Amino acid sequence: MLPPRMLGLLMLLALLSDVNGMCPTDFEGPILDPPEIIGTYGQSVYVNCSSNSDLIDGIAWKIGNNSLDLQEEIYFLLETVSLTDWSMTAECIIQLNEIHKCSKDLKITVYQNPEVSVSVQEVNVSAEGTLYKVRCDAMNVAPVQNLTVTWHRNNQIITTASFNDTTKTPVNVSSDVLILISRRENVVQIECKAQLDLGLHGPQFPAVSKMNLSALYAPEFILKHNENISVLEGDGVTLNCDAEGNPPPVLHWTHDGVNLLENTSSLEIAYVNTSTTYTCTASNHLGSTTKHVSVHVIRGTTPELPSTTERDCPITVSPAEIVVRFGDPLLITCNTSDARAVKIGWTDRLGVTEMNEPPSITWKVEQMKMWNFNPTCFVNWSDSQCGKRLDVTIYQTPDMVSVSALHLGPVVEGLQHNLTCDIYNVAPVHKLRVTWYRGKEVVLLETFEHWFSVTPVNVSSTLKVTPNRNDNGNVFRCEADLDLRPIVQPKSIHSAASASYTAVVHYAPEFKEVRDNEEVILGKNVTLGCSAEGYPPPEIQWKYISAVNLKETTVGRQKIIMITEATSTNAGVYICVATNEVGRLTRSVTVVVKDTNSTFIWLLIIGCICCLGIFIIVILLCKNSKKHGQYSFVPGNGSDGTDIPMTPKSAGEKA
Ligand SMILES: *[C@@H]1O[C@H](CO)[C@@H](O)[C@H](O)[C@H]1NC(C)=O
Ligand SMILES: *[C@@H]1O[C@H](CO)[C@@H](O)[C@H](O)[C@H]1NC(C)=O
Ligand SMILES: *[C@@H]1O[C@H](CO)[C@@H](O)[C@H](O)[C@H]1NC(C)=O
Ligand SMILES: *[C@@H]1O[C@H](CO)[C@@H](O)[C@H](O)[C@H]1NC(C)=O
Ligand SMILES: *[C@@H]1O[C@H](CO)[C@@H](O)[C@H](O)[C@H]1NC(C)=O
Ligand SMILES: *[C@@H]1O[C@H](CO)[C@@H](O)[C@H](O)[C@H]1NC(C)=O
Ligand SMILES: *[C@@H]1O[C@H](CO)[C@@H](O)[C@H](O)[C@H]1NC(C)=O
Ligand SMILES: *[C@@H]1O[C@H](CO)[C@@H](O)[C@H](O)[C@H]1NC(C)=O
Ligand SMILES: *[C@@H]1O[C@H](CO)[C@@H](O)[C@H](O)[C@H]1NC(C)=O
Ligand SMILES: *[C@@H]1O[C@H](CO)[C@@H](O)[C@H](O)[C@H]1NC(C)=O
Ligand SMILES: *[C@@H]1O[C@H](CO)[C@@H](O)[C@H](O)[C@H]1NC(C)=O
Ligand SMILES: *[C@@H]1O[C@H](CO)[C@@H](O)[C@H](O)[C@H]1NC(C)=O
Repeated sequence: MLPPRMLGLLMLLALLSDVNGMCPTDFEGPILDPPEIIGTYGQSVYVNCSSNSDLIDGIAWKIGNNSLDLQEEIYFLLETVSLTDWSMTAECIIQLNEIHKCSKDLKITVYQNPEVSVSVQEVNVSAEGTLYKVRCDAMNVAPVQNLTVTWHRNNQIITTASFNDTTKTPVNVSSDVLILISRRENVVQIECKAQLDLGLHGPQFPAVSKMNLSALYAPEFILKHNENISVLEGDGVTLNCDAEGNPPPVLHWTHDGVNLLENTSSLEIAYVNTSTTYTCTASNHLGSTTKHVSVHVIRGTTPELPSTTERDCPITVSPAEIVVRFGDPLLITCNTSDARAVKIGWTDRLGVTEMNEPPSITWKVEQMKMWNFNPTCFVNWSDSQCGKRLDVTIYQTPDMVSVSALHLGPVVEGLQHNLTCDIYNVAPVHKLRVTWYRGKEVVLLETFEHWFSVTPVNVSSTLKVTPNRNDNGNVFRCEADLDLRPIVQPKSIHSAASASYTAVVHYAPEFKEVRDNEEVILGKNVTLGCSAEGYPPPEIQWKYISAVNLKETTVGRQKIIMITEATSTNAGVYICVATNEVGRLTRSVTVVVKDTNSTFIWLLIIGCICCLGIFIIVILLCKNSKKHGQYSFVPGNGSDGTDIPMTPKSAGEKA
């Protein structure tokens, strides 16, 4: 142990060394203008360091590791800061006197806008569609922690990414997204925007890279079944093998095992003299498909032949718009107006084909149990055919719709709350419309057009509400309906399901009574009431100096103080406190006790004084009425002062 004297000395030394070099708290440190630099690499910026006091020894800058010389007898010092170092630092030092100095660091952000590029990393093809894994590379970006990468799909934001790496030098980062594109969607534009969020002094425009994507699929013939074509002997015929696919398929014809040179969708045969079969193969990297076209020679007769180049297929479909609930029966009729047609038929993706004699074919599905259903109706002429793809919407109304408040605990007045409407198993989601109601008023309408799925999905919609006390007991309702217009029979197909939520809004107490003072006559009975609105119902409490003639009772939600035969001790301040979990409110009532007897005496005295006053006034008035009018003295000739004659003024003037 050190002796106490030594300890004291040590403490003093410690204090002194602490004081040395310290900045006095009352000195308003170096003032930097601008206070912060945000600039690109290589940029030079002027910075002004000043003091608002003249009583300083000097100013110095420390740029990076270089301390510049102290400049004396100045109150500001300009310095150029060159942003040639990614972790540039600058500090201004003001020397106040030999002991005290103050310093301030200049905030410096050196940035570099990235170069971006998007690329496809992986592709998976399934019945649902094509799943792309897309990467966005942001190259040479600094500082990466202020970078936000935003992905857009057809101009709608799908996701964002940020980076928590605190490196100050340029780095390469990337962000991946999975994008599912269904065959029904045409081309989807994917966009990656990389923005450095550095405020007004940072880059204002993001670096952008775009890409167009579409669903990939193996080749499919527009008419999937094998064809039988009848041709007159000696005539020519064009065989058709139109196929779809992404990437576009490559076509290939063979005849009797021999490869033909043609690789176009139509094969021209100039002269037919024998029945034979041609084979067409369509392929891309996802697969290949083959069909056979049998050419049957018709000898002898010469019927009028239809034109094979007809572009518009003469087929009408009934119903025009096919909308069917999953599991329901479906009946479709295809009709052709062309009298020369030899067959009419339909085919679906699975290769099921049926044919009939023209002009119509009716096609019946007992129970629609497929989500993907792309049928085609076609007509055959003796030498050609054409088809029409039908658009079928298969829908399912939601299994369940429910509304819930995300937030746990009470809904408090004035705070934002989220209500969620969960919709289970609905298809197709892009036709779903969610309508939010507050009571009967529509407050939000949400659609899901950007989300494509033919199979049922679960979705949710969020309503942001900032409730007030009037919302207490209000019913918030969400309604989910499938907008399947235009449809043939609106009533039978429109479908809706809804759920509701009753708001319980908690709010702070508010007094019903407003009086803040009460006059009580001595000896009379008086009651003081206090009640307050609020949710949960507030607890009411009176605070006062109690007396024997005071009683507290509760009537409903009102707390009442009853004063029986008030005495002067009951005068004073009575405080009412209303409390609930949201807030606490107080109100005070001043009670004044009045004595009616003393009041009577006072009234009597005041009455007497008034009477006396009136009496005096009456007397004075009576005296004055004798010399009513104005008089002036007229100099007389009499020596006797007591006998001064008086004449009215007007008369005197005339004289
Ligand atoms: C630097 O700041 C001081 C104090 O605000 C001001 O008087 C002076 O004009 C400034 N100098 C320049 C060049 O801006
Ligand atoms: C400043 O000094 C530190 C430590 O001595 C060193 O690591 C750093 O590289 C120096 N910076 C510059 C810009 O010279
Ligand atoms: C693609 O499919 C393969 C095999 O099914 C799977 O391993 C891979 O993760 C899938 N890729 C994506 C991006 O989903
Ligand atoms: C950065 O973010 C990732 C995930 O977002 C997290 O796992 C990691 O701990 C974070 N790193 C730091 C240094 O905050
Ligand atoms: C980032 O990538 C680019 C291109 O691949 C390369 O030239 C550069 O050196 C990379 N930068 C870093 C910091 O890795
Ligand atoms: C950059 O990001 C960091 C961390 O998120 C943040 O503290 C800083 O204020 C940002 N810089 C600017 C200039 O906004
Ligand atoms: C994507 O497609 C749109 C129109 O479909 C076209 O205007 C645009 O140039 C395409 N973009 C790219 C990157 O190919
Ligand atoms: C095509 O004609 C042949 C021979 O007449 C017959 O066996 C075959 O079933 C027909 N195919 C179709 C799809 O009609
Ligand atoms: C057809 O095939 C030939 C050779 O096989 C090729 O040169 C030509 O470009 C192809 N044409 C089409 C339209 O694919
Ligand atoms: C059919 O025509 C081809 C030439 O196009 C000819 O070589 C062949 O002998 C003909 N067959 C008959 C049975 O006439
Ligand atoms: C409500 O949802 C938004 C995002 O949609 C979120 O930013 C906010 O914090 C949520 N509010 C509450 C009270 O949960
Ligand atoms: C005051 O109240 C008491 C008890 O309730 C009652 O007995 C008395 O008659 C009341 N006095 C007057 C003046 O109303």
